Amino acid sequence: MLIHIQLFGTGKKVSAGAIAGSVVAGVVAPVLGVLLFLFYRRRKAKQNALRLGNLATETSTILMQKVTSSTTQADVASLAAGITVDKSVKFTYQELFNATEGFNITHKIGQGGFGAVYYAELVGEKAAIKKMDMQATQEFLAELKVLTHVHHLNLVRLIGYCTESSLFLVYEFVENGNLSQHLRGTGYEPLSWAERVRIALDSARGLEYIHEHTVPVYIHRDIKSANILIDKNTRAKVADFGLTKLTEVGGASLQTRVVGTFGYMPPEYV
Ligand SMILES: Nc1ncnc2c1ncn2[C@@H]1O[C@H](COP(=O)(O)OP(=O)(O)OP(=O)(O)O)[C@@H](O)[C@H]1O
Ligand SMILES: *[C@@H]1O[C@H](CO)[C@@H](O)[C@H](O)[C@H]1NC(C)=O
Ligand SMILES: *[C@@H]1O[C@H](CO)[C@@H](O)[C@H](O)[C@H]1NC(C)=O
Ligand SMILES: *[C@@H]1O[C@H](CO)[C@@H](O)[C@H](O)[C@H]1NC(C)=O
Ligand SMILES: [Mg+2]
Repeated sequence: MLIHIQLFGTGKKVSAGAIAGSVVAGVVAPVLGVLLFLFYRRRKAKQNALRLGNLATETSTILMQKVTSSTTQADVASLAAGITVDKSVKFTYQELFNATEGFNITHKIGQGGFGAVYYAELVGEKAAIKKMDMQATQEFLAELKVLTHVHHLNLVRLIGYCTESSLFLVYEFVENGNLSQHLRGTGYEPLSWAERVRIALDSARGLEYIHEHTVPVYIHRDIKSANILIDKNTRAKVADFGLTKLTEVGGASLQTRVVGTFGYMPPEYV
Protein backbone atom coordinates (compact mmCIF):
# COMPACT_ATOMS: atom_id res chain seq x y z
CA MET A 1 0.00 0.00 0.00
CA LEU A 2 2.80 2.36 0.88
CA ILE A 3 4.45 1.78 -2.46
CA HIS A 4 1.18 2.58 -4.25
CA ILE A 5 0.75 5.94 -2.60
CA GLN A 6 4.33 6.88 -3.27
CA LEU A 7 4.14 5.93 -6.93
CA PHE A 8 0.94 7.86 -7.63
CA GLY A 9 1.91 10.72 -5.39
CA THR A 10 4.91 11.66 -7.59
CA GLY A 11 2.53 12.62 -10.38
CA LYS A 12 4.59 10.75 -12.99
CA LYS A 13 2.99 8.60 -15.64
CA VAL A 14 3.08 5.06 -14.41
CA SER A 15 3.24 2.06 -16.75
CA ALA A 16 0.92 -0.96 -16.40
CA GLY A 17 3.97 -3.06 -15.59
CA ALA A 18 4.87 -0.86 -12.66
CA ILE A 19 1.29 -1.09 -11.31
CA ALA A 20 1.32 -4.86 -11.62
CA GLY A 21 4.68 -4.89 -9.88
CA SER A 22 3.46 -2.75 -7.04
CA VAL A 23 0.35 -4.91 -6.61
CA VAL A 24 2.53 -7.94 -6.33
CA ALA A 25 4.80 -6.23 -3.86
CA GLY A 26 2.01 -4.67 -1.80
CA VAL A 27 -0.68 -7.34 -1.70
CA VAL A 28 0.45 -10.74 -2.89
CA ALA A 29 3.75 -10.82 -1.02
CA PRO A 30 2.27 -10.28 2.49
CA VAL A 31 -0.48 -12.85 1.81
CA LEU A 32 2.16 -15.31 0.61
CA GLY A 33 4.21 -14.54 3.70
CA VAL A 34 1.28 -15.25 6.02
CA LEU A 35 0.50 -18.49 4.18
CA LEU A 36 4.11 -19.62 4.39
CA PHE A 37 4.17 -18.78 8.09
CA LEU A 38 1.00 -20.79 8.76
CA PHE A 39 2.34 -23.72 6.76
CA TYR A 40 5.59 -23.66 8.69
CA ARG A 41 3.75 -23.54 12.00
CA ARG A 42 1.59 -26.49 11.10
CA ARG A 43 4.57 -28.50 10.03
CA LYS A 44 6.35 -27.72 13.26
CA ALA A 45 3.31 -28.74 15.32
CA LYS A 46 3.15 -31.98 13.38
CA GLN A 47 6.84 -32.63 14.01
CA ASN A 48 6.36 -31.94 17.69
CA ALA A 49 3.50 -34.43 17.88
CA LEU A 50 5.64 -37.00 16.12
CA ARG A 51 8.47 -36.26 18.48
CA LEU A 52 6.28 -36.81 21.54
CA GLY A 53 5.05 -40.11 20.13
CA ASN A 54 8.53 -41.38 19.51
CA LEU A 55 10.14 -39.91 22.56
CA ALA A 56 11.94 -43.06 23.61
CA THR A 57 13.35 -43.89 20.21
CA GLU A 58 14.17 -40.30 19.47
CA THR A 59 16.04 -39.73 22.69
CA SER A 60 18.14 -42.82 22.29
CA THR A 61 18.95 -41.86 18.72
CA ILE A 62 20.14 -38.47 19.90
CA LEU A 63 22.09 -40.11 22.67
CA MET A 64 23.64 -42.55 20.27
CA GLN A 65 24.72 -39.78 17.97
CA LYS A 66 26.15 -37.94 20.93
CA VAL A 67 28.19 -40.93 21.96
CA THR A 68 29.43 -41.76 18.50
CA SER A 69 30.12 -38.30 17.21
CA SER A 70 30.91 -35.87 19.99
CA THR A 71 32.09 -37.89 22.97
CA THR A 72 35.64 -38.89 22.34
CA GLN A 73 37.42 -41.17 24.73
CA ALA A 74 39.66 -38.31 25.84
CA ASP A 75 36.57 -36.31 26.84
CA VAL A 76 35.26 -39.10 28.98
CA ALA A 77 38.66 -39.85 30.48
CA SER A 78 39.18 -36.25 31.52
CA LEU A 79 35.66 -36.17 32.94
CA ALA A 80 36.35 -39.30 34.96
CA ALA A 81 39.78 -38.09 36.10
CA GLY A 82 38.18 -35.19 37.93
CA ILE A 83 36.18 -37.49 40.17
CA THR A 84 38.24 -40.62 40.76
CA VAL A 85 41.43 -42.20 39.54
CA ASP A 86 40.51 -43.86 36.28
CA LYS A 87 42.60 -46.98 36.98
CA SER A 88 40.44 -48.18 39.85
CA VAL A 89 37.59 -49.20 37.55
CA LYS A 90 39.71 -51.35 35.25
CA PHE A 91 40.46 -54.93 36.29
CA THR A 92 42.91 -57.36 34.75
CA TYR A 93 41.77 -60.75 33.52
CA GLN A 94 44.15 -62.33 36.06
CA GLU A 95 42.41 -60.58 38.96
CA LEU A 96 38.98 -61.78 37.85
CA PHE A 97 40.24 -65.28 37.04
CA ASN A 98 41.79 -65.51 40.47
CA ALA A 99 38.76 -64.15 42.31
CA THR A 100 36.43 -66.67 40.69
CA GLU A 101 38.82 -69.65 40.90
CA GLY A 102 39.09 -69.76 37.14
CA PHE A 103 35.41 -68.97 36.55
CA ASN A 104 34.55 -72.11 38.42
CA ILE A 105 30.98 -73.33 38.13
CA THR A 106 30.65 -73.10 41.93
CA HIS A 107 30.94 -69.30 41.59
CA LYS A 108 28.22 -69.05 38.98
CA ILE A 109 25.11 -67.22 40.22
CA GLY A 110 23.16 -66.63 37.04
CA GLN A 111 22.92 -66.91 33.30
CA GLY A 112 21.49 -64.19 31.09
CA GLY A 113 21.08 -63.39 27.44
CA PHE A 114 24.58 -61.91 27.18
CA GLY A 115 26.53 -64.40 29.28
CA ALA A 116 27.13 -65.89 32.71
CA VAL A 117 27.35 -64.10 36.07
CA TYR A 118 29.91 -65.14 38.73
CA TYR A 119 30.28 -64.27 42.37
CA ALA A 120 33.65 -62.95 43.56
CA GLU A 121 35.32 -60.87 46.22
CA LEU A 122 37.35 -58.06 44.71
CA VAL A 123 39.26 -55.40 46.62
CA GLY A 124 37.44 -56.48 49.77
CA GLU A 125 34.01 -55.99 48.22
CA LYS A 126 31.45 -58.58 47.20
CA ALA A 127 31.01 -58.43 43.46
CA ALA A 128 29.04 -60.02 40.64
CA ILE A 129 31.14 -60.47 37.51
CA LYS A 130 29.22 -60.58 34.28
CA LYS A 131 31.13 -62.33 31.51
CA MET A 132 29.77 -61.01 28.24
CA ASP A 133 29.83 -63.11 25.09
CA MET A 134 30.96 -60.15 23.02
CA GLN A 135 33.71 -57.63 22.52
CA ALA A 136 33.21 -53.99 23.45
CA THR A 137 33.41 -51.30 20.81
CA GLN A 138 35.44 -48.14 21.42
CA GLU A 139 32.18 -46.25 21.86
CA PHE A 140 30.95 -48.64 24.50
CA LEU A 141 34.23 -48.45 26.42
CA ALA A 142 33.83 -44.68 26.60
CA GLU A 143 30.26 -45.25 27.74
CA LEU A 144 31.34 -47.71 30.45
CA LYS A 145 33.54 -45.13 32.15
CA VAL A 146 30.55 -42.83 32.42
CA LEU A 147 28.37 -45.66 33.72
CA THR A 148 30.77 -46.34 36.61
CA HIS A 149 29.95 -42.85 37.89
CA VAL A 150 26.19 -43.30 38.03
CA HIS A 151 25.29 -43.86 41.68
CA HIS A 152 21.86 -44.28 43.20
CA LEU A 153 20.48 -46.34 46.06
CA ASN A 154 18.10 -48.09 43.66
CA LEU A 155 20.62 -48.87 40.95
CA VAL A 156 23.07 -51.77 40.88
CA ARG A 157 26.44 -50.02 40.87
CA LEU A 158 28.97 -50.79 38.17
CA ILE A 159 32.28 -51.11 40.02
CA GLY A 160 34.45 -51.64 37.01
CA TYR A 161 35.18 -53.68 33.93
CA CYS A 162 37.79 -55.73 32.13
CA THR A 163 38.38 -56.01 28.41
CA GLU A 164 41.08 -58.66 28.26
CA SER A 165 40.10 -61.76 26.26
CA SER A 166 36.42 -60.79 26.44
CA LEU A 167 34.27 -58.13 28.05
CA PHE A 168 33.64 -58.41 31.81
CA LEU A 169 31.42 -56.10 33.81
CA VAL A 170 31.99 -55.98 37.57
CA TYR A 171 28.91 -55.02 39.59
CA GLU A 172 28.28 -54.69 43.29
CA PHE A 173 26.85 -57.96 44.60
CA VAL A 174 23.19 -57.82 45.59
CA GLU A 175 22.53 -60.44 48.29
CA ASN A 176 18.94 -61.57 47.87
CA GLY A 177 18.70 -62.57 44.22
CA ASN A 178 16.35 -61.35 41.53
CA LEU A 179 12.70 -60.36 41.83
CA SER A 180 11.71 -63.26 39.58
CA GLN A 181 12.83 -65.73 42.25
CA HIS A 182 10.84 -63.90 44.94
CA LEU A 183 7.68 -63.76 42.86
CA ARG A 184 7.85 -67.42 41.86
CA GLY A 185 8.61 -68.55 45.42
CA THR A 186 11.82 -70.41 44.50
CA GLY A 187 13.77 -70.52 47.75
CA TYR A 188 12.27 -67.37 49.24
CA GLU A 189 9.27 -66.60 51.44
CA PRO A 190 6.41 -64.89 49.58
CA LEU A 191 6.72 -61.11 49.72
CA SER A 192 4.27 -59.13 51.84
CA TRP A 193 2.14 -56.46 50.20
CA ALA A 194 4.11 -53.71 51.94
CA GLU A 195 7.34 -55.18 50.53
CA ARG A 196 5.84 -55.43 47.07
CA VAL A 197 4.80 -51.79 47.09
CA ARG A 198 8.24 -50.77 48.30
CA ILE A 199 9.95 -52.81 45.58
CA ALA A 200 7.73 -51.18 42.96
CA LEU A 201 8.57 -47.73 44.33
CA ASP A 202 12.29 -48.51 44.55
CA SER A 203 12.36 -49.72 40.94
CA ALA A 204 10.47 -46.63 39.82
CA ARG A 205 12.94 -44.38 41.65
CA GLY A 206 15.92 -46.11 40.07
CA LEU A 207 14.36 -45.78 36.64
CA GLU A 208 13.38 -42.17 37.19
CA TYR A 209 16.97 -41.39 38.09
CA ILE A 210 18.50 -42.74 34.88
CA HIS A 211 15.62 -41.42 32.77
CA GLU A 212 15.73 -37.89 34.09
CA HIS A 213 18.64 -37.00 36.33
CA THR A 214 21.83 -38.33 34.74
CA VAL A 215 23.91 -36.69 32.03
CA PRO A 216 23.43 -38.16 29.52
CA VAL A 217 20.10 -39.80 30.36
CA TYR A 218 19.63 -43.53 29.79
CA ILE A 219 16.58 -45.43 28.69
CA HIS A 220 16.65 -48.89 30.21
CA ARG A 221 14.67 -50.83 27.57
CA ASP A 222 15.04 -54.19 29.33
CA ILE A 223 12.96 -53.92 32.48
CA LYS A 224 11.90 -57.32 33.78
CA SER A 225 11.94 -59.20 37.08
CA ALA A 226 15.38 -60.71 36.36
CA ASN A 227 16.81 -57.20 36.14
CA ILE A 228 15.40 -56.08 39.48
CA LEU A 229 17.61 -57.34 42.30
CA ILE A 230 16.69 -57.50 45.98
CA ASP A 231 19.25 -56.51 48.61
CA LYS A 232 19.62 -57.70 52.22
CA ASN A 233 17.05 -55.15 53.46
CA THR A 234 14.53 -56.24 50.80
CA ARG A 235 15.07 -53.02 48.90
CA ALA A 236 15.11 -53.18 45.11
CA LYS A 237 17.92 -52.20 42.76
CA VAL A 238 17.60 -51.92 39.00
CA ALA A 239 20.31 -53.84 37.10
CA ASP A 240 21.74 -53.63 33.59
CA PHE A 241 20.96 -50.01 32.75
CA GLY A 242 22.94 -48.55 29.87
CA LEU A 243 23.63 -51.96 28.36
CA THR A 244 21.34 -51.52 25.38
CA LYS A 245 24.07 -49.24 24.01
CA LEU A 246 26.33 -52.25 23.77
CA THR A 247 24.12 -53.86 21.17
CA GLU A 248 23.19 -50.63 19.44
CA VAL A 249 26.52 -48.93 18.85
CA GLY A 250 28.46 -50.69 16.15
CA GLY A 251 25.47 -52.90 15.40
CA ALA A 252 22.59 -52.30 13.06
CA SER A 253 20.65 -49.05 13.16
CA LEU A 254 18.15 -48.35 15.92
CA GLN A 255 15.13 -48.81 13.71
CA THR A 256 15.96 -52.32 12.57
CA ARG A 257 17.45 -53.74 15.74
CA VAL A 258 15.14 -54.92 18.48
CA VAL A 259 16.50 -54.39 21.98
CA GLY A 260 14.99 -56.01 25.05
CA THR A 261 13.61 -59.35 26.13
CA PHE A 262 10.82 -61.13 24.33
CA GLY A 263 7.69 -61.13 26.48
CA TYR A 264 8.63 -57.90 28.22
CA MET A 265 8.40 -55.45 25.35
CA PRO A 266 5.36 -53.97 23.63
CA PRO A 267 3.98 -56.47 21.08
CA GLU A 268 3.80 -53.81 18.36
CA TYR A 269 7.54 -53.21 18.80
CA VAL A 270 8.23 -56.87 18.00
N1 LIG B 1 24.92 -57.62 40.78
C1 LIG B 1 24.35 -58.81 40.98
N2 LIG B 1 24.22 -59.29 42.23
C2 LIG B 1 23.63 -60.49 42.43
N3 LIG B 1 23.11 -61.26 41.47
C3 LIG B 1 23.19 -60.82 40.20
C4 LIG B 1 23.82 -59.58 39.87
N4 LIG B 1 23.74 -59.40 38.55
C5 LIG B 1 23.10 -60.47 38.06
N5 LIG B 1 22.77 -61.35 39.03
C6 LIG B 1 22.06 -62.62 38.87
O1 LIG B 1 22.35 -63.18 37.61
C7 LIG B 1 21.17 -63.38 36.87
C8 LIG B 1 21.44 -63.20 35.41
O2 LIG B 1 21.75 -61.85 35.14
P1 LIG B 1 21.92 -61.31 33.68
O3 LIG B 1 21.78 -59.83 33.74
O4 LIG B 1 23.16 -61.87 33.09
O5 LIG B 1 20.74 -61.94 32.87
P2 LIG B 1 19.24 -61.52 32.75
O6 LIG B 1 18.98 -60.36 33.62
O7 LIG B 1 18.41 -62.75 32.97
O8 LIG B 1 19.08 -61.14 31.25
P3 LIG B 1 19.70 -59.91 30.47
O9 LIG B 1 20.96 -60.43 29.88
O10 LIG B 1 18.68 -59.58 29.45
O11 LIG B 1 19.94 -58.82 31.47
C9 LIG B 1 20.19 -62.37 37.44
O12 LIG B 1 18.86 -62.75 37.24
C10 LIG B 1 20.56 -62.36 38.91
O13 LIG B 1 19.92 -63.43 39.56
C1 LIG C 1 45.59 -65.01 43.33
O1 LIG C 1 45.12 -65.53 44.60
C2 LIG C 1 46.14 -65.92 45.48
C3 LIG C 1 45.49 -66.50 46.72
O2 LIG C 1 44.33 -67.20 46.43
C4 LIG C 1 47.05 -64.74 45.80
O3 LIG C 1 48.13 -65.17 46.62
C5 LIG C 1 47.59 -64.14 44.51
O4 LIG C 1 48.34 -62.97 44.80
C6 LIG C 1 46.46 -63.80 43.57
N1 LIG C 1 47.00 -63.30 42.32
C7 LIG C 1 46.56 -62.20 41.75
C8 LIG C 1 47.19 -61.83 40.46
O5 LIG C 1 45.68 -61.51 42.23
C1 LIG D 1 35.73 -75.78 41.11
O1 LIG D 1 35.81 -75.66 42.51
C2 LIG D 1 35.60 -76.90 43.21
C3 LIG D 1 35.58 -76.59 44.69
O2 LIG D 1 36.47 -75.56 45.03
C4 LIG D 1 36.70 -77.89 42.82
O3 LIG D 1 36.48 -79.13 43.46
C5 LIG D 1 36.68 -78.08 41.32
O4 LIG D 1 37.75 -78.89 40.93
C6 LIG D 1 36.79 -76.74 40.59
N1 LIG D 1 36.59 -76.94 39.16
C7 LIG D 1 37.41 -76.43 38.26
C8 LIG D 1 37.05 -76.70 36.83
O5 LIG D 1 38.36 -75.72 38.54
C1 LIG E 1 17.14 -65.38 39.02
O1 LIG E 1 18.22 -65.86 39.79
C2 LIG E 1 18.35 -67.27 39.80
C3 LIG E 1 19.45 -67.62 40.79
O2 LIG E 1 20.49 -66.71 40.75
C4 LIG E 1 18.67 -67.77 38.42
O3 LIG E 1 18.79 -69.18 38.42
C5 LIG E 1 17.55 -67.36 37.50
O4 LIG E 1 17.90 -67.69 36.17
C6 LIG E 1 17.27 -65.87 37.59
N1 LIG E 1 16.05 -65.57 36.91
C7 LIG E 1 16.02 -65.11 35.69
C8 LIG E 1 14.66 -64.90 35.11
O5 LIG E 1 17.05 -64.84 35.09
MG1 LIG F 1 20.21 -58.71 33.86
